[in-house]
Amino acid sequence: MYNCAIILAAGEGKRMKSSTPKVLHEVCGREMVNIVIDVVKKAQIEDIDLVIGNGAERVKKATESRNVSYSFQNQQLGTGHAVLCAEDFLKNKEGTVVIFTGDSPLIKEDTIKKMLDFHNKGGYKATIVTSVVKDPTGYGRIIREKNGEVLKIVEHKDCSREELKVDEINSGMYCFDIKSLVESLNKLHNNNAQGEYYLTDVIEILKVSKGKIGALPVNFEEIIGVNSRVQLSEAEKVMRDRINHIHMRNGVTLVDPGNTYIEMDVTIGRDTVIYPGNVLQGNTVIGEKCTLYPNSRIKDSVIEDNVIVQSSVILESKIGQNVTVGPFAYIRPESIIGNSVRIGDFVEIKKSTIGDKTKVSHLTYIGDAQVGSGCNFGCGTVVVNYDGKVKNKTLIGNNSFIGCNTNLVSPVKVNDDTYIAAGSTITDEVPAGSLAIARAKQINKEGWVYKKGLKK
Ligand code: UD1
Ligand code: MG
Repeated sequence: MYNCAIILAAGEGKRMKSSTPKVLHEVCGREMVNIVIDVVKKAQIEDIDLVIGNGAERVKKATESRNVSYSFQNQQLGTGHAVLCAEDFLKNKEGTVVIFTGDSPLIKEDTIKKMLDFHNKGGYKATIVTSVVKDPTGYGRIIREKNGEVLKIVEHKDCSREELKVDEINSGMYCFDIKSLVESLNKLHNNNAQGEYYLTDVIEILKVSKGKIGALPVNFEEIIGVNSRVQLSEAEKVMRDRINHIHMRNGVTLVDPGNTYIEMDVTIGRDTVIYPGNVLQGNTVIGEKCTLYPNSRIKDSVIEDNVIVQSSVILESKIGQNVTVGPFAYIRPESIIGNSVRIGDFVEIKKSTIGDKTKVSHLTYIGDAQVGSGCNFGCGTVVVNYDGKVKNKTLIGNNSFIGCNTNLVSPVKVNDDTYIAAGSTITDEVPAGSLAIARAKQINKEGWVYKKGLKK
């Protein structure tokens, strides 16, 4: 049986109070609409059409990589009208179309497969995914006949008192027989509380023409619709729990999963221990046996095995094995830290390479530099990489000992096996094997304080 999908993503999302189209708001680091597209694809539905309108260009751009087709809804006249805008997509197709909304990102792959199976085997004209909930406020209600068959869906704002009491809700996810859907869409009217063409009214239209309607109840958690920031946080929490459980099942210790924020594409090796307050974002890869003490943010970075990180920020960088980072280190994009390196407190590394076993223990800035292995940076070293106009490069060889409070004025080269005296401002190349001292010699004026009468 042929299957395709339509995802509705043209609405503005007024209740979000946002300048970003609702479906582009992120849950665990991915736009809601992309989460929906991805799960539909996982369920092996390849032919996907996205109905866009509000912020169409932005939504199109954000979904570009997903290889879907687009239909445009220029005026948001309701969910039924939105599907009608995809009429061309449905033209000459026979089979089943699955409809999702771009604001319900929690549906699972298995449930999509189940709903298709249920729909196709049952010979239904429409199948609605429903849920029985404690608080149905805001959702469309599933109205059933005495014999239990679905009669219609009534939107919250159009419900009678009796209907408001119904606790079975419409998820906004459906399967339709394509032909029957297209015929019914053309019969919709907007004679309702919101003056909109409701997709939900198709159910009653099909019922009246003796079509069989199916309903598949699922866990509410899978169908939470995001219309407000409060619901966004609810969806985020459900997704976060799912992600965290996967990692824990894979052998990662999360000391407090409720306070550990791991985005969807992050991978983590076994026996890594993660304390609360860590935020792992983007395409981050964490190796095995790492310890992430509280409160770090790591984005789009690769952290190899046995690394310890504390209260630090690491962005778009690579950290080798057996490294310790922090507390309070800032590793900025395009940095490559070798193996067994120590990056200590209040150290900032930017677009630099640091060789194996080098120690940068405290209060140091290294920018646009290539540093060899086995070096030691004294406290308070500054790579002076910016001359006010351009960023310059600094090269430091292997086994250099950089004394405390050194300035390395770039561009400059420090060769292998060198010592730099504390407090030096280095402006010229330091040859291999030498000691560089670049500061004024100390002068002691003996008795000066007493002669001046400064101490009685
Ligand atoms: C809709 C359902 C409701 C269901 C709920 C589940 C209708 C009439 N109501 O209500 O029964 O319980 O979802 O979450 O379908 N959209 C368009 N064009 C439009 C209007 C909406 O593309 O003209 C898109 C929106 O971007 C959104 C989706 O359709 O992704 C749903 O719209 P929304 O306004 O959120 O409908 P709900 O009030 O949540
Ligand atoms: Mg909604």
